[in-house]
Amino acid sequence: MKDAVFDEFIDRLRSESDIVSIISDYVPLKKKGKNFWGCCPFHGEKTPSFSVTPDKGFFYCFGCQTGGNVFNFIMRMENITFFEAAKFLAKKLNIPVPEREKTPREQAKEQELAKIYQANEVARDFFHACLTKTKYGEPAREYLLNRGISAEVIDFLKLGFAPPLWDKLSLTLRERGIALDILLKSGLSAPRNSGDGVYDRFRNRIMFPINDVRGKTVGFGGRVLDNSQPKYLNSPETEVFNKRHVLYGLDNAYKHIRELGEVIIVEGYMDVITLYTQGIKNVVASLGTAFTPEQARHLIKLNARLLFSYDSDAAGQIATVRALETVRSLGATIKVVTIPDGKDPDEFVRKHGSQAFQDLTKNAQPLLDYQLDQAMKSDDYSTVQGKIAVVGRLTPILAETDNAVAVNAHITRLSQVLAIDESALRSEITKYIVQVKKDKNVKLGKTINIALLCKQPAPAVIQAERQLIRMMCDDLSLVPYVSEKLSSNEIQGTVQQEIINFIFDAYNMESTITQAAFNAGINALSEKANNEFSHIMLLESQFDDVLKSVDDCIKTIRLAHLTTLYEQHRLNADELERMGDSNFLQELAESQRIKHEISKLHH
Ligand code: UTP
Ligand code: MN
Repeated sequence: MKDAVFDEFIDRLRSESDIVSIISDYVPLKKKGKNFWGCCPFHGEKTPSFSVTPDKGFFYCFGCQTGGNVFNFIMRMENITFFEAAKFLAKKLNIPVPEREKTPREQAKEQELAKIYQANEVARDFFHACLTKTKYGEPAREYLLNRGISAEVIDFLKLGFAPPLWDKLSLTLRERGIALDILLKSGLSAPRNSGDGVYDRFRNRIMFPINDVRGKTVGFGGRVLDNSQPKYLNSPETEVFNKRHVLYGLDNAYKHIRELGEVIIVEGYMDVITLYTQGIKNVVASLGTAFTPEQARHLIKLNARLLFSYDSDAAGQIATVRALETVRSLGATIKVVTIPDGKDPDEFVRKHGSQAFQDLTKNAQPLLDYQLDQAMKSDDYSTVQGKIAVVGRLTPILAETDNAVAVNAHITRLSQVLAIDESALRSEITKYIVQVKKDKNVKLGKTINIALLCKQPAPAVIQAERQLIRMMCDDLSLVPYVSEKLSSNEIQGTVQQEIINFIFDAYNMESTITQAAFNAGINALSEKANNEFSHIMLLESQFDDVLKSVDDCIKTIRLAHLTTLYEQHRLNADELERMGDSNFLQELAESQRIKHEISKLHH
């Protein structure tokens, strides 16, 4: 696993790159005190909240909470991987990139991928030429024009046409020296049923190239010109086309999504194209209706709110609910745009213009409201049966929502609309929570966040956790002491817990933790933890008596942890007793034991 030459290379880049001068290539920076300040390149702003500390080598934006080291900055800015960022830096600093001998297998794989990309590129240009320059393309040109797609858009997106012939593309690819197995592996050709040879997968269809985020064509969608089926034929999954990951339009939308902090997710090719050409450029399509967690993560990484705008027919509504289920647990801000008339965003914008669509997005419904609306629609709640069914659907939604204030407001409103007692609704929710905990045997307060029962960690606790992290990072010799005294599951903040886990792990693996091992590990932190880490490194840190401060922090953290545990067991005991479950005695005993521990800590 360990590659000493590579580690050395990365260390050299780290020590020789001056973060201020590198970031200055993108953002004008001004010195203020020890740090430099500028306007954040990752979100739109007019007053600087983006800071760089040269001595620590970190940047952090107080506006959008993005942070990291020089590698993270380049990765985000250029939208490239860690290794690519290293190469990018090496080129800037004139440091030679160490060549690692690739195994013959790796070399073969790399060549194969390059060939598949090449085949896609040739195919894209072939389809495009066929649409714009041949008589075959005439009906397709007319079709597109009728749908309001101009020649410029056709050129910009390299839209194309697959001629109604059996093997014209396959032959062209072969003439360009691309081997038969690559034709098959790219999904552009399919093997003939009888005899040898291949034929073109796409025939007589308008072709939409599907690109990865850097604009490389990885697959195609092809639309028929009439009403025949299937309406769209897509490339099969290939080594370069992973349908769980790809988002149509992301290559063009990328920088607009980051600028606006918002992405509009639509169903289809035509929705993206129409919105984009009408000036709404932060749009991607999930292609088909199943929105995947992988797709969500790509967008969440851009710090964007997700705005779903699926078709307004029944299928679109079901797809929306399903997409929301997928992303709910990922911690993104989610809203839903409902198209009032016309089936999809494409039709709506062509009918009413882009301003009308912008207005719709401004009035988008928060996730919770949309889900509750859908649940209310599911049955006729004027009958008792209907009320029971609707409450059954509302309960899990409310129980699994983090925001206690919102939940309370909705409980009051919904009980009025449904004409049921507010306390009845509350008790259904509590029952649900207790049941889920029992079923899944979940650790209390961990898996489902129950705003009604648990509270957010207090600012003072998070402060202590941050301080502790900072003290350990400033002096790594404290790590064994802290890890001996404190267990990471006592940490209440999720990102802080991730960081502390990482620090403890780095120590356990190396037994004496080195700065190099430590630095190398930071890049493995999640996006949020990485941001928080940079934030922590930017905090003021002057401690007169470090050991005493460490002990104080540990005490604050432990007290908070025990208090939470106590409250959870206490609440559980009450609930179980109310339901006549004799297990409440155990819960009560546990809560007493914890209470005792707390009082010992106070002395
Ligand atoms: P729609 O049926 O809503 O098509 O499917 P659309 O985008 O509105 O297309 P137009 O306006 O009729 O041209 C939405 C998306 O689902 C996928 C495509 O990605 C399509 O854009 N789809 C649909 C398929 O992959 N295959 C199909 O047969 C139909
Ligand atoms: Mn459509």
